[in-house]
Amino acid sequence: MAWCKFTLLGYGLKAAHGCLVGEVAFRGAASRKPNESMRLIVTTFVGVVFGFLIGVSFPTLSLTKVNLPSSLLPSIDLSYIKDKESSLRNALSFVNNKNSSSTQAQNLNATSKIWVPSNPRGAEILPPGIVEAESDFYLRRLWGNPSEDLARKPQYLVTFTVGYDQRENIDAAVKKFSENFTILLFHYDGRTTEWDDFEWSKRAIHVSVRRQTKWWYAKRFLHPDIVAPYDYIFIWDEDLGVEHFNAEEYIKLVRKHGLEISQPGLEPNKGLTWQMTKRRGDQEVHKETKEKPGWCTDPHLPPCAAYELSLLFVEIMAPVFSRDAWRCVWHMIQNDLVHGWGLDFALRKCVDPAHEKIGVVDSQWIVHQTVPSLGNQGEAHDGKAPWQGVRERCRKEWTMFQSRFANAEHSYFKAMGVDPSNSTAH
Ligand SMILES: *[C@@H]1O[C@H](CO)[C@@H](O)[C@H](O)[C@H]1NC(C)=O
Ligand SMILES: *[C@@H]1O[C@H](CO)[C@@H](O)[C@H](O)[C@H]1NC(C)=O
Ligand SMILES: *[C@@H]1O[C@H](CO)[C@@H](O)[C@H](O)[C@H]1NC(C)=O
Ligand SMILES: *[C@@H]1O[C@H](CO)[C@@H](O)[C@H](O)[C@H]1NC(C)=O
Repeated sequence: MAWCKFTLLGYGLKAAHGCLVGEVAFRGAASRKPNESMRLIVTTFVGVVFGFLIGVSFPTLSLTKVNLPSSLLPSIDLSYIKDKESSLRNALSFVNNKNSSSTQAQNLNATSKIWVPSNPRGAEILPPGIVEAESDFYLRRLWGNPSEDLARKPQYLVTFTVGYDQRENIDAAVKKFSENFTILLFHYDGRTTEWDDFEWSKRAIHVSVRRQTKWWYAKRFLHPDIVAPYDYIFIWDEDLGVEHFNAEEYIKLVRKHGLEISQPGLEPNKGLTWQMTKRRGDQEVHKETKEKPGWCTDPHLPPCAAYELSLLFVEIMAPVFSRDAWRCVWHMIQNDLVHGWGLDFALRKCVDPAHEKIGVVDSQWIVHQTVPSLGNQGEAHDGKAPWQGVRERCRKEWTMFQSRFANAEHSYFKAMGVDPSNSTAH
């Protein structure tokens, strides 16, 4: 059976069928009475025919169904299946060969087994040279030399959480990002094929899961090990006006000023609550701000506590994270708190010193168009409008996040034998 598993993984269904059937026939002949053997042979024969039919039909069926580019189809025919057969034969003879290196390794005693503690958890039994701990979103060809698949490796990743109704806006936004960006769309309305009307859609990556939030997608699909090749990660909303934004220029400024977490300045408009994210006309970047007097009821509570640290970074509609900052922020995102409320105040925990590494890029700015999008994805409940339910949940999440964070810090410092009241202040 071990072989069967091996062939199933490496060489597809057809091979696996042949293998199962073959083993049954072999055992039957060796150990059963003639009467039973007869039955077995008949069953086996039926099995062989059935397996063969499935094996022959399966690859062609499934591959035509997934709608591959027509240029691929000519190469997938019977010769393709024959190729698979011969590579299977090679692989089996390799395993059979008593002289092969894997058998030699088995003959050595147990101390020669591989155990590499520095490998990722669960992969310690692999030789480090074969371990690929990180991945990427690079699109590859199905043919040719793998090392020549990519003309260039995009260094930056931009994601938008989108509904089809906002397509014009997203089209305009995507066009601001050069070929140095991988484009990833999270679709919350289940509509993806319609986007193919846009030329860039074919090189974009589409993830479609209904009615989820930006932070839900980010937690699931932007694991730091998956986005590891990207220097900067843009996690953007769909309702941003980008007329005055240039992505390459933005990156230049972020590098120049050493910003680990940043956001373009927002054109002041009615939807804006906090001074921090507001664009300033007179400078490239700003890292500090003064809130309007009267906003702070208690200077030691957010948002004013954060302000005391010279920074307040709310309304994260268009955050940009460096690779390192994202690795930290990803770990802070809670699986169940999908709206990410409270996250904005906690971002500063991920960079040190926060007042130097978090900032707003004024000279590349965007306009927030305040389109109520996710609110409409709520559900009428107890006689309340959908958006009310969403809003209530946001507030609740905010409180839950605050208390989880406070509790986590408290237990950590307590465990370390430090007075928590002294240590959480910075
Ligand atoms: C076993 O492998 C060694 C080196 O890999 C080779 O020199 C030798 O001829 C092989 N022996 C047999 C029986 O294949
Ligand atoms: C494994 O090899 C070591 C020496 O290389 C030897 O001392 C030990 O007894 C061997 N263990 C077994 C189980 O053969
Ligand atoms: C893409 O990145 C390369 C290397 O960093 C740079 O030379 C090139 O100008 C960038 N492309 C655009 C459109 O800015
Ligand atoms: C808090 O820290 C200060 C200086 O670091 C120290 O003098 C003081 O004793 C600490 N307070 C408590 C309650 O541990």
